[in-house]
Amino acid sequence: PKTHHHDFVVQSTPVKRLCNTQNAITVNGQYPGPTLEINNGDTLVVKVINRARYNVTIHWHGVRQMRTAWADGPEFVTQCPIRPGESYTYRFTVQGQEGTLWWHAHSSWLRATVYGALIIHPREGDSYPFQKPKRETPLLLGEWWDANPIDVVREATRTGGGPNISDAYTINGQPGDLYNCSSKETVIVPVDSGETNLLRVVNSALNQQLFFSIANHKMTVVGADASYVKPFTTNTLMLGPGQTTDVLITADQTPSRYYIAARAYASAQNVPFDNTTTTAILEYKSAPCPAKGTSIRPVLPSLPAFNDTATATKFSTSFRSPRKVEVPTTIDESLFFTVGLGVNTCPSGANANTCQAPNRTRFTASMNNVSFVLPSNFSLLQAHHQGVPGVFTTDFPAAPPVKFDYTGNVSRSLWQPIPGTKVYKLKYGSKVQVVIQGTSISTAENHPIHLHGYDFYILAEGFGNYNPKTDTSKFNLVDPPLRNTVSLPVKGWAVIRFVADNPGVWLMHCHLDVHITWGLAMAFLVENGVGELESLEPPPADLPVC
Ligand code: C2O
Repeated sequence: PKTHHHDFVVQSTPVKRLCNTQNAITVNGQYPGPTLEINNGDTLVVKVINRARYNVTIHWHGVRQMRTAWADGPEFVTQCPIRPGESYTYRFTVQGQEGTLWWHAHSSWLRATVYGALIIHPREGDSYPFQKPKRETPLLLGEWWDANPIDVVREATRTGGGPNISDAYTINGQPGDLYNCSSKETVIVPVDSGETNLLRVVNSALNQQLFFSIANHKMTVVGADASYVKPFTTNTLMLGPGQTTDVLITADQTPSRYYIAARAYASAQNVPFDNTTTTAILEYKSAPCPAKGTSIRPVLPSLPAFNDTATATKFSTSFRSPRKVEVPTTIDESLFFTVGLGVNTCPSGANANTCQAPNRTRFTASMNNVSFVLPSNFSLLQAHHQGVPGVFTTDFPAAPPVKFDYTGNVSRSLWQPIPGTKVYKLKYGSKVQVVIQGTSISTAENHPIHLHGYDFYILAEGFGNYNPKTDTSKFNLVDPPLRNTVSLPVKGWAVIRFVADNPGVWLMHCHLDVHITWGLAMAFLVENGVGELESLEPPPADLPVC
């Protein structure tokens, strides 16, 4: 195994998108940031130097961080932020994961522009469990605002309303030629006739689940979230923010130019969303040259309608592990978490311009009716490690106990989540099942729920209220997919299982940044086991303090 050293300089860089230039926060002046390529088993050492005027941290999304929670990155959860002028070195080994992950800022909304791909090739000497592709192309889907994203979220927090929607979606940072002033920079993916390309698709958008399609080309899904899957063929992908999907495509069509396109999957009712389409171009190198002064308009794929839940569900439920897996069966912790949006009263003294949610309330979000509040003077992990009291409590509650129709009529009491910094304690090695139940409090939406520090098996998902008597019969205990982010169906539920074998404090949250801003998060505190190999490593000497 190798050790790879990188410097990430976080800085403000002029970036021109759509028809104007703005200063965006980038890594090494690049947007999206650098692609990291390693082999399974390698170690990454990344020194992050903050030359921007904001606090920043970097999260290695999906990396298991076995015993190295200090390198996970969410601000105020596993570390204090890296302040302007300071630096911190993330050091971790990637073990047992192959495929595509990514890295992103985990501070405010900085990840709008601070993100990049993390590609994990097979262990040296190993090969893919499918035919080696001729080429590999990372395709990161993103969202672009004409305004500074930090200002967008600050304004939303001030007014209690929903933030402005983005002005464009992007593929590898470029909106593509369906947007104004963007045609010259459209991303081109070259192919030779007959060759196979492995596309590594990442949804790095802040607030939007996305459909993804390529005109005239079928895709064979071979991996997701850095685990291989049983291959299946599809015309359309749907990715929630945080999710990755690896697909093989074969250039078996008439040599020409074909659009690669993505646009919103927006299941919520009456919630505004960016309804534009981003494109890149799959270009056969043998395509005939257009006559001088003309261009060949690529063929557009037909993307599902923005509210096509049937297509999204069919796709999300097609994933299987490649072979029989060991799903934990005897469960030590059987948990039930409700997730959803709500509203809360305006802070008293707020003026008439604030509190823009219905009836002069402000939007909020919660898990088990607790709206997660980050500490500000300590990270949860530092507080836990040093035994500092008063930073968090361990009384993360059960779901509201009423016989409750979570996806139908809502009880008024659930409209007002209680703010708190509450964690749920897990013994080392416990076998955990979490039923995640979507609610329709205030409005129903699907939520990409991401767990730090773990991959989990998705046993089943469905619509309506989870029924413990009948829905257990739907559990796939044979070959469920291993993921780090589950796309919770709108007004529905999902059941996940994992073994708590990684000590630390691990955030679980909705990966729509607007929802995490409103508090749709909680954290597991996983205790050390016996001996060094079951315990968290000591903190690095340069770990930032608050
Ligand atoms: Cu991809 Cu908590 O993040």
